[in-house]
Amino acid sequence: MFPTNISLSEKGMTTFFDGTPPFYLVVPVFVVTALFLIALKRRPNLPPSPKALPVLGHLHLLRPLIHHSFRDFAARHGPLFSLRLGSVLCVVASTPDLARELLKTHELTFAARKHNAAIDHLTYQSAFAFAPYGPYWKFIKKLSQTELLGARTLHQFLPIRNGELQHFIRVLHDKSLSSESVNVTQELVKLANNIISQMMLSIRSSGVDSQADEARTLIREVTQIFGEFNVSDFIWFCKHVDFQGYKKRFEDIHKRYDALLEKIIRDREELRRKKRVPRADEVKDFLDMMLDIYEDENSEMKLTREHIKALVLDIFTAGTDTSATSIEWALAELINNPTVLKKAREEISSVVGDHRLVNESDVKSMPYIQAIIKEALRLHPPIPMVARKSVQECRIGGYTIPEDTLLFVNIWAIARDPKVWANPLQFSPERFLEPANGNLTGNIDVKGQHFELLPFGSGRRGCPGISLAMLELPTVLAAMIQCFDWKPCDQAGQEVKAVNMDERPGLTCPRAMNCFACLCRVWAPYRSWQLVIQRVSRWPNMP
Ligand code: HEM
Repeated sequence: MFPTNISLSEKGMTTFFDGTPPFYLVVPVFVVTALFLIALKRRPNLPPSPKALPVLGHLHLLRPLIHHSFRDFAARHGPLFSLRLGSVLCVVASTPDLARELLKTHELTFAARKHNAAIDHLTYQSAFAFAPYGPYWKFIKKLSQTELLGARTLHQFLPIRNGELQHFIRVLHDKSLSSESVNVTQELVKLANNIISQMMLSIRSSGVDSQADEARTLIREVTQIFGEFNVSDFIWFCKHVDFQGYKKRFEDIHKRYDALLEKIIRDREELRRKKRVPRADEVKDFLDMMLDIYEDENSEMKLTREHIKALVLDIFTAGTDTSATSIEWALAELINNPTVLKKAREEISSVVGDHRLVNESDVKSMPYIQAIIKEALRLHPPIPMVARKSVQECRIGGYTIPEDTLLFVNIWAIARDPKVWANPLQFSPERFLEPANGNLTGNIDVKGQHFELLPFGSGRRGCPGISLAMLELPTVLAAMIQCFDWKPCDQAGQEVKAVNMDERPGLTCPRAMNCFACLCRVWAPYRSWQLVIQRVSRWPNMP
C-alpha cells in the first residue's frame, strides 16, 4: 500500500505501522510536546490582544497618533489590552478605575520608565525623569519639592515670570500695531523657554545667537527625537543597526548639548570663584543649587557633572513644550468658542479692572479662568498617555502583567470617554464650576487624585512641575485675553473661519499647524508698564 522506496528503513516502517513507534521518533515528539506544554503553562494570562504578526507584533496596526489607535483598540478589545510592539510587551489601560489600580494600588510596581537608545545617550544615563525608583530619583524628587520647584523658590522666581510675561505681551502688542499676524505657537514656546532657562541657568533668549537661543534649538531637537519612532528600540535583532540615521543624529545633538552645557557650567564656576561670598538677598538659580551640592563633600548624594547636565535637559524637555502647548490649546478653544472667551474677559475685568495687567495672585479669584485651563487640559493633555514600566510581575483584573512590561494609561481617551464625562467633546469650562449645585465634576482637580483627569499623571512619579504650570498657565492665558481680541487667521494674515484643532504626533501632543492669529488690542497697558519693566531687577547671576 505504501511505497517501498522510502528513506526510512523497512524495519522502521513496519514497526511504525505495527503501532509501536520507534525510539528515534518517540524522543523528539516527547521533547517537543513537553516543551510546548511547559511554554503554555508558563505563558502568562495576558490581557486580550489583536492578532499579531511575527517579528512586528502589532507595530503595523499603529497610526501616527498612537493614543488614537489605542482608543480604537480599547473599543474592540476592552479597557485593558496587551500589545507586542516588535519584541516589547505593552499593556494599555483606558478607564479611571484601571488608572487608579495601576498608578495607585500598584504604584511601586509601575514606578519605573522605559528607556530607549536616544534617552540613554542624551541624558547621560542619569536622567531624573527616566531614573529607576531608587536613591538618586528620591534625592532629586525631594530636592525638586523643597528647592528647585518648591513654593519658596517659585515665589523667588516671580519677578522672572512677571518680566517674561510683560515682554511677551509687549511683543504681541508691537505686532498688533503693525497689523502683522502672530505666530502664537512660536511666541509661546519662546516665553516658556525663557522662563525655564532663566530659572535654571539665568540666561534668556535674545533672538540672536545667545546661549539661550542655542539651548532652545537643541531642546527642540531633543524633544523631537525623543518623540520619534526608532525601529531598533523595538525589534531586538535590529538593536545594533542604525536604519534611519537615528543614532548618528542623537550622538550629534548630544555632542553639541554637552559642549554648550560644559561652557555654561565652567563660566558659572569661574563666577563663583571670583565672588566668594554670596549676597544675603541673592536668589540662586537651579545651576547654583546643583553646584552647591556638587561641591559639597558631605552631601547626602554625590552628584556628577553628568547629573547636572541631565537634570537641566530633563527640566527643559519636560517643562517648556508642555506649558506652551497647553496655553496654545486653551487659546485655540477660546477663539473657537467666543461665548466662553467673552465670559472669561468679563471675569478678568471684574477682578483686575483695566488699570493694570493681571498677575498670578489674581488667579485664585478667577474660577472661570481656572476652569478653562482644566477643560483645556482635559481635552488636550500635552502628554496624552502616562508611560511607565513594571519592575515586577503583578495581577490586574485576573490578568498577569509580567515584569518589564511597558504600561500606557491613555489619559487622553479617558478624558474623552462618554461613560466618564457628559458631552465629552464639548469645550465647557462650566463642568468644573458650581459643585454645590449637584455638578458632580465640579470638584475634580488635576493633582492626580481624580483618575478621570490626569494631565499631570499621578502618585510619586507624577509631574513635579505642576505648581509652576498651574501658576503660569492661567496667568499667561488671562493676560492674552485681557490685552487682545483674537481672530483666527492663516500665515498670510487672512482671517479664517476657525482654528484647526487637529493634533500632530510628537513627544507632547501639539496642534497640527502653528496657530496664527490677528490681534486687535482691547487694552493697551504697555505704556504704563514701561516703568515697571525697568524696575524688575536684573537677575543676580545674569552674565
Ligand atoms: C502643562 C504643563 C505640564 C504637563 C501637562 C505635564 C505633564 C507631565 C506628566 C503627565 C508627567 C508624567 C507623570 C506620571 O508618570 O505620572 C510629567 C512628568 C514630569 N514633569 Fe511635567 N508637565 C508639565 C509641566 C512641567 C514643568 C513646568 C516641569 C518642570 C519645570 C515638569 C517636569 C516634569 C518632570 C521632571 C517629570 C518626570 C518626573 C518623574 O519621572 O519622577 N513638568 N509631567
